[in-house]
Amino acid sequence: MSTSAELHAALVEQLTQDGTLTEPEWRAAAEGVPRELFVGSFFLPVPGSNPTACRPVHRGEPGWLERVYSNETLVTQLDGHIRPEDVTEGTVTGSPSSSSTLPSLVLTMWQQLGAETGHRVLEIGTGTGLSTAYGANRLGDANLTSIEYDPAVGARAAASLKAAGYAPRLIIGDGLLGDPEGGEYDRLIATCSVRHIPQPWLYQVKPGGRILVTLSGWSFAFGLALLTVTGPGEATGRFLPGYVSFMIARPHDRPPRQSLELLPGDERPTRINPEIISTWTGGWVAQLAAPSAERMGAGEQQILSDVATGSQARTMPNPDGGWTVVQRGPLRLWDQVESAVEAWQAANSPHQERFGITVSAAGQRVWLGAEDGPGWDLPI
Ligand SMILES: C[S@@+](CC[C@H](N)C(=O)[O-])C[C@H]1O[C@@H](n2cnc3c(N)ncnc32)[C@H](O)[C@@H]1O
Repeated sequence: MSTSAELHAALVEQLTQDGTLTEPEWRAAAEGVPRELFVGSFFLPVPGSNPTACRPVHRGEPGWLERVYSNETLVTQLDGHIRPEDVTEGTVTGSPSSSSTLPSLVLTMWQQLGAETGHRVLEIGTGTGLSTAYGANRLGDANLTSIEYDPAVGARAAASLKAAGYAPRLIIGDGLLGDPEGGEYDRLIATCSVRHIPQPWLYQVKPGGRILVTLSGWSFAFGLALLTVTGPGEATGRFLPGYVSFMIARPHDRPPRQSLELLPGDERPTRINPEIISTWTGGWVAQLAAPSAERMGAGEQQILSDVATGSQARTMPNPDGGWTVVQRGPLRLWDQVESAVEAWQAANSPHQERFGITVSAAGQRVWLGAEDGPGWDLPI
């Protein structure tokens, strides 16, 4: 059986060999921070369960240490309050609300952020404190502030950071409001996702500074954006390669869903195959086009339900080929989605990395190709 030191060393070696750790300073951070001090018990999904059931894996049980030193995300809280310790027998269902993100992603993001010696950094979403510890190791305690929304999660992270010998500034609160004492930051990194870039970030990060955050919404689509602040309240940036998703910042989550009744509406044939919005970037384009809609259903049978207006759209295959869409309500959700998907297809259906974002007092816009290309306003 391997010791924790051996498992830790093997993980760092894996992250070096696979090209994650390109900078020696971040390799040193990965070596200096033992993940077992940050991840206690966690949840594992039960394969094949629907809805996904989770079983707790308790600190110290067989296999626990190997999982801790695997390059996997480990969920540590469900539905904003359920901890693995609360589940004494069987399994539980719920939405992940806190986790230790897979080390390769956290370390990649720190490097993408371009955080250098002497930079002051604001982190949003302390979680277990693992990413905070990497940052504190590399940048020094005095240069790092981390904000966590959930007081219980934040208290555990504080204890873990102390046990590991780090003392960055920790705040319990809503990171979307920025540092409550204000601040002039060089960099901001978020390990929860947002529907739009929060205004305080655009004033607390200095012009020339960078913001790394995942844009998301209510239809499970994501794009990791690296923005440069161009002036107070203004920023511009591009989306990065890869397939990154993060749980949505709690204040940006959708309101509780009422039961959904599918009602009759106007029918027409669709111009696109509805399956396209189940793909990674097709779903992203659909979410941009209908930003207050939730997407349900799958494949050829998509359901869009607009949280703001109650508008609905649903698609179905026709027996003789093609598809029909039924729409009702003030927003023609499918019309919006279809036009956006057609614009994206006209550009050869590129991945998110061909998209950019511009933020100013006038609004927040995600565009395709170039700033004057097809674009969609974010809900703010
Ligand atoms: C994916 S986890 C963070 C992972 C963490 N960085 C790590 O390495 O363990 C996301 C965290 O963001 C927190 N969060 C959600 N909304 C937030 C907000 N508005 N402000 C600060 N933290 C928030 C969640 O409570 C959760 O702990």
